[in-house]
Amino acid sequence: MSTAPSLPAPRAGTPLPDGLAAAASPETAPEVWPLTARTVEGRLHVGGVALHDLADACGTALYVVDEADFRHRARLWRESGADRVHYASKAFLCAEMIRWVDSEGLHLDVCSGGELRLAVDTGFDAARIVFHGNNKSVAELEAAVANGVGVVVVDCLEEIDRLARAAAAADRVQDVYVRIAPGVAAETHDYMATGGDDVKFGFPVRGGHAERAVLAVAARPSLRLTGVHSHIGSQITATDGLTLAAERVAAFVALLAERHAITVEEIDLGGGAGIPYLPGQPRLEPATFTSALRAGLERVLPGSPVRLAVEPGRSMIGTAGVTLYRVGAVKDGLRRRFVSVDGGMSDALRPSLYLARYTAWTANRPARGEPVHAVVVGRHCESGDVVVPDIALPEDVATGDLLAVPATGAYHHAMASNYNAQPRPAVVAVRDGRAHLMVRRETPEDLRRRDAHGEPVRLTTG
Ligand SMILES: Cc1ncc(COP(=O)(O)O)c(C=O)c1O
Repeated sequence: MSTAPSLPAPRAGTPLPDGLAAAASPETAPEVWPLTARTVEGRLHVGGVALHDLADACGTALYVVDEADFRHRARLWRESGADRVHYASKAFLCAEMIRWVDSEGLHLDVCSGGELRLAVDTGFDAARIVFHGNNKSVAELEAAVANGVGVVVVDCLEEIDRLARAAAAADRVQDVYVRIAPGVAAETHDYMATGGDDVKFGFPVRGGHAERAVLAVAARPSLRLTGVHSHIGSQITATDGLTLAAERVAAFVALLAERHAITVEEIDLGGGAGIPYLPGQPRLEPATFTSALRAGLERVLPGSPVRLAVEPGRSMIGTAGVTLYRVGAVKDGLRRRFVSVDGGMSDALRPSLYLARYTAWTANRPARGEPVHAVVVGRHCESGDVVVPDIALPEDVATGDLLAVPATGAYHHAMASNYNAQPRPAVVAVRDGRAHLMVRRETPEDLRRRDAHGEPVRLTTG
């Protein structure tokens, strides 16, 4: 009779590989946790609410948002020296978030008809909205005009034509920014770099594309060019690229004035300020971000009255968010311990998409023991379904524990899917010991409602 060999456990005390992320509490790495996160008698609290109580009340996986953290960062952006601050709604959006943005006096950047609709339906003043997107439909452009959107950022020549027609048909003059690609490669993941010459966004300055786009706008009586826009990428922590992009955009604005007597009132240099995801990583502070842009503008356009707009997303809401999971299984592999939680790539896509890294901490009790090399994995049918890649987790993290993953406020709920028919988690805001629901948990019934059971499709031809 043969017995199956048992897998050697990745024992505590075994030397850990270099570069492993440390499990980090709010006390050891406050930079990655929301402002109000605390460990109280070994249990994690955010906004004065015990996360284990929230898990009992709302279930897991669960997104938790610290309202005080968001409002603090919104204020830092307002005071950063930019003339106008748009919250980039792609990072995280729902009706309650729109109300928070409104109450903080911010403007809103949307990039789809859906985001626009949500903002308008929530009562956000459309004149304070800037509308992005590299492939807006005619219906979306018509909706922008009809709702009185403040600025539409045009991204291709066909769109200039379509927007001009939509505005003329509505007897309106639509304010427009032209998005340009200044040829600056941001130091970030390739998927988050958007300012180089070979990207789908904007008109390259090189080769005269951007200049021709501006002239195309100027030739349309129903459009008014008010600004030039550029966004070189996301999760940027060094300022050199930002200053260089500002210089290039300013040089383009100077060229428009000299060659065509076209005056630009506003330069929008996008978002992209980076946040710490792991202990010890830097944060690009709002004032540093804005000063770097101002330095570039001032070098090329000294004393110019041109206004500066910015569009932070991650930097405003990323650190406010924590995702709470319940550990369902712990299994020792040959090299690593696999800690399986009740979510995964359907609520946390960034590790699979960009190999993004995170830390974690137990929320229900202090975890103890020597650190072991672990990976926190989800419950989906993909081996790339990872929530926290390679982390040194205390040895006694066990089934039934609650794991909290910080820095998940941006691009988590916004990128969530129903992979494996997984209903999307709820989003709960916490503040001063109270919790309120921002987005309810999806139910299997929500998913079933979309099933059409073979309903016939009416074809228009044939
Ligand atoms: C045009 C534009 N503005 C702003 C942002 C927000 O970037 P972040 O969330 O990194 O600040 C993005 C992100 O993709 C963007 O494409």
